[in-house]
Amino acid sequence: MKADNLNKYVIELENVTRIYKLGKYEVTAIKNITLKIKAGEFLAIMGPSGSGKTTLLNLIGALDTPTEGKIMIDGEDISKMNDSQLTHIRRNKIGFIFQFYNLIPVLNALENVELPMLAANVPKKSRLRHAKYLLNILGLDARMHHRPEELSGGERQRVAIARALANNPSIILGDEPTGDLDTETGLEIMHYLKKLNQTQKNKTFIIVTHDPLIANMTNKIIYLKDGRIEKIESKV
Ligand SMILES: Nc1ncnc2c1ncn2[C@@H]1O[C@H](COP(=O)(O)OP(=O)(O)OP(=O)(O)O)[C@@H](O)[C@H]1O
Ligand SMILES: [Mg+2]
Repeated sequence: MKADNLNKYVIELENVTRIYKLGKYEVTAIKNITLKIKAGEFLAIMGPSGSGKTTLLNLIGALDTPTEGKIMIDGEDISKMNDSQLTHIRRNKIGFIFQFYNLIPVLNALENVELPMLAANVPKKSRLRHAKYLLNILGLDARMHHRPEELSGGERQRVAIARALANNPSIILGDEPTGDLDTETGLEIMHYLKKLNQTQKNKTFIIVTHDPLIANMTNKIIYLKDGRIEKIESKV
């Protein structure tokens, strides 16, 4: 992204509503949310269980589509995209980190990080070089050939972060990425994410968490309640 794009909004939600229909019942998980997020922001989403955090993240990550409203990623309306356009956005613009890592058990750390680049047709040599570079940044030089079961929880999550960064996405989304870790390891993961946010200026990080200590490491906290934004707290 060019320097003059730094102050542009990378994510824009306009009157977004997501209703789940279950037979004759309806659950309105997200209610009329309007939100703008700039490139390079490092923010947290908090709120009680069922308040719509995962739904909001999945909408931003193009894993789900709104029932009403508009979502723009890098100025492009994803609500109007077809499947192949959405696949392109998910593969190249968005990196996901999950609570339970979602690594492939039979692949080692290096191969797990290579996988998204394989899907994007990056040649083997470049794949390897980039995967090693990312694992190195995440302090995993000595763990490249370990399979997930041979790694600690914190190490697994660092492999998952390297994987999320593989195709150089502009947006990194974490759905409770520290939820399965003890506080100390969770904070360590946040330090890595913060460092990445500071060294790769254009990358936007959105982290869902229940833990105020984790949320406090970000620059802005969005509080959800019953599918709406209750308040936004900014730290300068
Ligand atoms: N696939 C689905 N089908 C029907 N209802 C759903 C579905 N996914 C979520 N919901 C409902 O939407 C609401 C918001 O759910 P969501 O998973 O976004 O909450 P959350 O804030 O992430 O909660 P948690 O902190 O427990 O992960 C809840 O009432 C939930 O029951
Ligand atoms: Mg959730």
